[in-house]
Amino acid sequence: MNARPDSPERTAAAGAPTATQPALPDYLAPVFAQYPLRIVAAEGVWLTTGDGRRVLDLYGGHAVAALGYGHAGWTAALTGQARTLSFQSNAVPLDVRLRAAQRLIRFSGLDFTRVFFVNSGAEANENALKMAFTCTQRAHIVAIEHSFHGRTAGAGAVTWGAASKWYGFPRAPFDVGFIPRRDMAAIQTQVTARTAAVIVEPVQGVGGAFDLGAPYLAALRARCDEVGALLICDEVQCGMGRVGAPFASGLYGVQPDMITTAKALGAGFPCGALLMAPRVAAAIRLDALGTTFGGGPMACAVIEAVIDAIESDQLLERVRARASEIRSRCIVGPVRAHQGEGLLVGLRTTRPAREVHAALLERGILAGTSADPHILRLLPPYVLGAQHVELLRDALLDIGS
Ligand SMILES: Cc1ncc(COP(=O)(O)O)c(C=O)c1O
Repeated sequence: MNARPDSPERTAAAGAPTATQPALPDYLAPVFAQYPLRIVAAEGVWLTTGDGRRVLDLYGGHAVAALGYGHAGWTAALTGQARTLSFQSNAVPLDVRLRAAQRLIRFSGLDFTRVFFVNSGAEANENALKMAFTCTQRAHIVAIEHSFHGRTAGAGAVTWGAASKWYGFPRAPFDVGFIPRRDMAAIQTQVTARTAAVIVEPVQGVGGAFDLGAPYLAALRARCDEVGALLICDEVQCGMGRVGAPFASGLYGVQPDMITTAKALGAGFPCGALLMAPRVAAAIRLDALGTTFGGGPMACAVIEAVIDAIESDQLLERVRARASEIRSRCIVGPVRAHQGEGLLVGLRTTRPAREVHAALLERGILAGTSADPHILRLLPPYVLGAQHVELLRDALLDIGS
């Protein structure tokens, strides 16, 4: 997946010269293979490239841009807070932080009593795992095959395939077992009295927009209760409205012990959160959790603005409407089936998804791929309109089967 600095994917867009601008030298560490796009501006669901092309964004910067670009409430919250008080750490109480925590817990609709604000999805998962070990005094985690939980030592250790692909640490910091998706029998045999927690994405993102479903989540919950393990739902990608409900756990009728979230939580401002149910909250000791930037006032102002926008712009209804239109209108051309939940959509393609991705980009639509080579992954902003779904349909028909 990583591109060398001199690879065609990487040089096609980064620092590309234009009529008015010389090429910029590239000192950046090569991270992802890059799309051949030089984006200079964005508005709503549209990206504008350096050469003036408009591209429909159905990927949202890895599921981040939930409100699209230039959302008035988000921009006002961020700039207003920057002017009022740009930063103070958790060593100082802040009303904006208290409000963000209260709003987030209320928004979740689930039984949580404490929030720990962090900076990213991986950091939220790292702290969730730590709380699970603290609560249970056990050292074994069960994760699900094809999961993705982040790139840090703990989060990477519970990510499927990381050890052979990119993990980089000499050993995992605790015991981890992986169980197959939707395999009920494996839950019974692998989640045991030595298990501290099960960590699961209710709808897997990187793994291919794969919905694990209510019965599977209920079985995990029941087994965790039987053996005294905790259930951690990683909703970094599928949470904060993306499935047409505040969180996928709620949609599937499950109360986790912890939810981790990030991405759409800040809708473009970096932040993450760990929500804790009373049993976990009771185990927090002062000085056990910490961060400099997590819970900063600008992040918290943005979190409030994101929840405001989701609630007052009726974005959950909008997500559900677009989700059903995509599924009824876009199984055409190279797409033969769909999976996933809400606006975490997996379109199963007859030919490699990378080829369909490239063909869509030629037609001015940016989609995503996934670890499943035949799944095109869509993670569009929640402000997407029905007319944009029709543009996708037209492009897929034009590509043909
Ligand atoms: C489900 C899930 N968990 C965790 C992460 C890691 O989040 P971050 O990149 O903010 O550390 C991701 C990122 O893609 C994710 O999809």
